[in-house]
Amino acid sequence: MTDDDAVAETERLVLRRWRVADAAVQRTLWAERDPRTPAHRRLSSDGHPTLEELEDRIRHESPGATVALLAAVRRTDGAVVGYAGLIRNDHGEPDEPEIAYEFLRAEWGRGLATEACGAVVDWARRTRHRRLWATVREWNTASRRVLDKVGFAETTRVDRDAAHGDTLYYRLDL
Ligand SMILES: CC(C)(COP(=O)(O)OP(=O)(O)OC[C@H]1O[C@@H](n2cnc3c(N)ncnc32)[C@H](O)[C@@H]1OP(=O)(O)O)[C@@H](O)C(=O)NCCC(=O)NCCS
Repeated sequence: MTDDDAVAETERLVLRRWRVADAAVQRTLWAERDPRTPAHRRLSSDGHPTLEELEDRIRHESPGATVALLAAVRRTDGAVVGYAGLIRNDHGEPDEPEIAYEFLRAEWGRGLATEACGAVVDWARRTRHRRLWATVREWNTASRRVLDKVGFAETTRVDRDAAHGDTLYYRLDL
């Protein structure tokens, strides 16, 4: 591993725990979100979450968690270009977390999300999770393609949402 806080590595990326200095990249990701994303996941009109709030969230993360989002660091220049990892959800059993990922727009279309998510699936196997879930808006073709490529299967569950797009449920048995 190239970093003490690294959790997984791929050809082009190191996935490591968030550092406080990464809050600015997190805020850019918030700012770049698609307008169809529900309001609670977009920057508010008065600028929340602020940089300081994001820094504080990073400070309060538990360092050894096996359900966590990980910063994706490009090996060539050490820049954080996005994240991938696992989050808790309420649709699976307690040991069946959900995969989540997001990359800076400037980095889209180079296979980075697929590479990172493949490493997250391997990490989930190593930490003995039995099954992973994913939820994705029906309109999010790129994200659905990433799920296909790392082995997820679409289930029959759909949450209808006329305002933001239906949510589809995907599953991967490890
Ligand atoms: C989803 C996301 C992470 C994909 O990142 P990425 O690094 O560009 O993904 P990859 O390059 O690994 O793969 C994207 C795939 O979708 C395809 N794709 C991208 N845009 C597409 C579109 N508009 N229509 C059809 N396919 C599309 C790409 O061609 C590629 O598939 P391929 O390898 O078969 O050609 C990125 O778009 C993102 O950060 N989106 C905002 C956050 C988000 O939606 N996260 C997921 C929430 S469920």
